[in-house]
Formats: sequence, C-alpha cells, structure tokens
Amino acid sequence: MQEAGTSLKQRVIRYLVGQAHHPRGIVGWVNGWMFALRPSNRQRNIWAVSLLNVQPTDRVLEIGFGPGIAIAEFTGRATQGHVFGIDHSQTMVRQAARRNSAALRALRVHLTQASVDRLPNFGDPLDAILAVNSVAFWPDPVERLRELRGLLRPAGRIALVSQPRCPGATRDTTVRAAQELQDLLTRAGFTHLRVETLELDPPVACVLAENSTGTP
Ligand SMILES: C[S@@+](CC[C@H](N)C(=O)[O-])C[C@H]1O[C@@H](n2cnc3c(N)ncnc32)[C@H](O)[C@@H]1O
Repeated sequence: MQEAGTSLKQRVIRYLVGQAHHPRGIVGWVNGWMFALRPSNRQRNIWAVSLLNVQPTDRVLEIGFGPGIAIAEFTGRATQGHVFGIDHSQTMVRQAARRNSAALRALRVHLTQASVDRLPNFGDPLDAILAVNSVAFWPDPVERLRELRGLLRPAGRIALVSQPRCPGATRDTTVRAAQELQDLLTRAGFTHLRVETLELDPPVACVLAENSTGTP
C-alpha cells in the first residue's frame, strides 16, 4: 500500500515536471495561466528584465518564455527595438501570442515555436538574452550557451534565472542552482559574472554575464 502510494506520488511529480518542461494540451494551458498569475512568477520575470538594463533600441531574446510575462516587460522597454522569443511548446507560444498580440501585430515581438537546440535566425546581433527557469530543461546546456554567446554582440548581456520549484526547495537549493548556472556560463566562455537575489520563498537567483570577445 505504502509502495503503491509512493509510486503514485512519484508519477504525479514526474507528470508535473514533464508539463513544466513541455506544457501540452489543457493541463499545459492551465499551467501556463498559473505561471502567469502566480505573483512570485510575475515578480521574478519583471525583476529579471529590469536587471538587464534594456535600452530603447535593443534587440533582445528570451528562451522558454512560457506565458510571455517577460516578453511583455521587454516590449515596454525596447520601445524602438525588437523582442524575439522561442519556446518549444505550441501551447505556450499560443498563450504568449495572445498576451502580446498588439506588439506582435506591430512586428515588434517575434515568437517562434522552436527548441533551444534548433535556433532560428535572428538577423543582426542581439543585445541581451534571458532564460527564466528554463536552462535545467535544455539538452547539453554548455553547448547551447556557446551558441547563444555567438548571437550576442560584443559585451552583450545574458541573464539566467532560477527559482527552484522542487518540493522542499530552500535558500540552499537556490544557492546551489546559482552556482550551477555560473559554472555553465563560465564553461561557455561568458565573463563578468554577477549574481543577484530576489527575496521570495524560495529566493530567486539571477546570474548575469557578458559576451567575452575572445575565441570560443
Ligand atoms: C517552467 S517554464 C518557465 C516559463 C517562464 N520562463 C516563466 O518563468 O514563467 C519552462 C519553459 O521553458 C520551455 N522550454 C523547456 N525546454 C525548452 C527547450 N529545449 N527549448 C525551448 N523552450 C524550452 C517550456 O516550454 C516552458 O515554457
């Protein structure tokens, strides 16, 4: 009985993690609305965008935008620039498109259904890149980050954000996640790393870094 109970709990957790990784169908749609409405999710996305010091003419990219909260925030800052986003979930692309429909129509926001390991062409170099609670799902993240670095202009910025959502997550979980993100960025050739923390429960870590101009 105990074993049956444990395996059911494990199956539910595995299903929810799968939905966070790739939101699909009705459950994915509801999850997206929960991502969008949960105050801590909104706060961490808006805070992360504020740390990137986005200028009006900037060209910015978000990977794994989910319901599109940070995309909307970018649009309010890069008022003469372009906001690109990719997410491999069709459900999330539709939800983010609804949330950002005016900017999409004005061709200021460009949302593509794509995985981070099959990046579309974004044209000219980018000024800033953001990923919030997404890197943990990426295949071969160091290689992905090297590719992303290649899309940034010299001294372009990247922000990787983690708010651990596993059961029982604490400040220590956030500290470990931040350390892992720093290791990935360093191995991918980024420099000028700095960590900022937003005091939520659990805390949110944002690791900021710059595109070094050296060789890969
Ligand atoms: C936990 S949600 C976070 C959504 C949003 N960034 C937020 O903070 O509200 C993770 C998002 O990353 C996306 N994602 C996961 N793996 C991806 C990949 N390999 N390529 C593109 N998007 C990915 C998922 O579809 C999902 O929308």
